[in-house]
Amino acid sequence: MTGRWVKIATTDAIADDDMIAVEIEGRQIAIYHVGDAFHATANICTHAYALLTDGFLDECVIECPLHAGRFDIKTGKALGPPVNRDLKVYRLKVEGDDILVELD
Ligand code: FES
Repeated sequence: MTGRWVKIATTDAIADDDMIAVEIEGRQIAIYHVGDAFHATANICTHAYALLTDGFLDECVIECPLHAGRFDIKTGKALGPPVNRDLKVYRLKVEGDDILVELD
């Protein structure tokens, strides 16, 4: 099934090497800006309950603020204990100044 593309932010809302939390249609989504690229993942850690945007972004790795679990924000891959479940990644595109994500 193809998802719907939904505008979630504008590019000027996220400084380089930074991230924002967005709640849209009941989903908590993190949008990251690293170098020239933007990425989107679920914002809730797969380990317990913490918002990843309260954590630390190092290049393309987000570290959870609660128990320091780490995920690759491009693939969602859990990078080792205590996290062992991957993070949902949202497809994202930039149109002009708008950032859109695909919601299913
Ligand atoms: S809640 Fe994120 S590592 Fe535990």
